[in-house]
Amino acid sequence: MQKYMVVGGNRLKGIVRASGSKNATLPILAACILNAGKSVIQEVPRLVDVSVMKDVLVHLGARVRWERNTIEVDSSNIQPVEVSEELMRRMRASNLVLGPLLGRFGRVKISYPGGCQIGSRPMNLHLKGLQLLGANIQEKYGYITAEADRLVGADIHLDLPSVGATENLMMAAVLADGVTTIRNVAKEPELVDLQNYLNSIGGKVKGAGTDTIKIEGVRLEDLKPAFHTVIPDRIEAGTYMVAAAITGGDVTVTNVIPEHMDPLLAKLREAGVNITVGDDYIRVQGNGRVKAVDIKTMPYPGFPTDMQPQMMALLSLAEGTSVITETIFENRFKHVGELRRMGADIKVEGQTAIIKGVDKLSGACVEASDLRAGAALVLAALAAENGTIVENVQHIDRGYEQLEMKFNALGAIIIRAHN
Ligand code: EPZ
Repeated sequence: MQKYMVVGGNRLKGIVRASGSKNATLPILAACILNAGKSVIQEVPRLVDVSVMKDVLVHLGARVRWERNTIEVDSSNIQPVEVSEELMRRMRASNLVLGPLLGRFGRVKISYPGGCQIGSRPMNLHLKGLQLLGANIQEKYGYITAEADRLVGADIHLDLPSVGATENLMMAAVLADGVTTIRNVAKEPELVDLQNYLNSIGGKVKGAGTDTIKIEGVRLEDLKPAFHTVIPDRIEAGTYMVAAAITGGDVTVTNVIPEHMDPLLAKLREAGVNITVGDDYIRVQGNGRVKAVDIKTMPYPGFPTDMQPQMMALLSLAEGTSVITETIFENRFKHVGELRRMGADIKVEGQTAIIKGVDKLSGACVEASDLRAGAALVLAALAAENGTIVENVQHIDRGYEQLEMKFNALGAIIIRAHN
């Protein structure tokens, strides 16, 4: 197990560049299954989750070359072999191979990815949509098997705007016969990036970023490899912005798409933080003690659940009482207990956390339970008095590229230690 030793109290200052988006990279790598040939994907963050997706593609028969932030995927020899429980348990997003494998080969067998710390994370919407496209689904012995002689375009209305279900159904529909309409879809920027990749390989997809996505099926021979640059990671960028606010620093985050950050910027401004927005950068200046604000996580363009733990860390030190309501995942308050160990005054009632701002946080030994909770604990540690140990940083490595290097370049003191 690895841990961080963090010395708190430094105001972060300087410039930090956001990496490519983890949550755009993962579906785009899965989509490489669709086109037999060599795709080159740039701005790929060096993360554990990306490494797992690479392992899944190699397991399926792809040849993958990954140098620095560029991945080349040759999917010519991919076969729809079973994706084992060992691989699926390493990362839930491995379930994104479902749609492309079914679309290209008409059959797929994956072990159920199972839940994780933040919730049970079922796949009923993925499977219901694939059935509407003509797939025969079997769920037995912890495995999902999907088969279809030919997928046929359908009209699908999602019960809720699931990111993964939208992505799987988009990819499956690319090679279906006829037109597929998916309504009540997720509108996150990562869906638009996936749409752009699918169209660059010869797919005919439109509407990503709106409530309805239309996919006109094409033939496998119409698909060709492509070159794609992944959009910046809005959650990683947001984490560094909160770090500037919580330490009262002055940080400019570059390589961002400002409109992807709107929900977070609105809340930071409401809390009294100084924000300057450029074409592809955002400057965040602490402005004394932040003010309490209320947050309700919602599907995009609402406030992102992936920024909820980080904002809770910031609001632990706010003037006044904040209320955070988590509407996306049923169990995403695991960081509360750890923040309390550092002196935060937080009460949880069901899906709501009431955060009474305190004057200071003090260092403690805390444990990361998932990647965003881990990031929140690092932020709290940066602002806390004296030192903090953050255990289980392998969770953080799943979603943050070179976190300690980037933070230390801003004046933080974070040392990675091996237990
Ligand atoms: C994606 O997960 C992201 N992961 C998550 O980011 C993010 O928190 C989440 O979207 C919500 O924005 C990736 O993109 C790899 P969902 P996903 O399907 O697709 C329920 C991070 O920190 N649901 O939109 O799994 C589900 O239980 C990660 O980077 C069903 O009920 O999320 C949840 O309550 C964490 N049935 C809600 O929908 C289904 O079939 C939203 O889940 C599917 C989902």
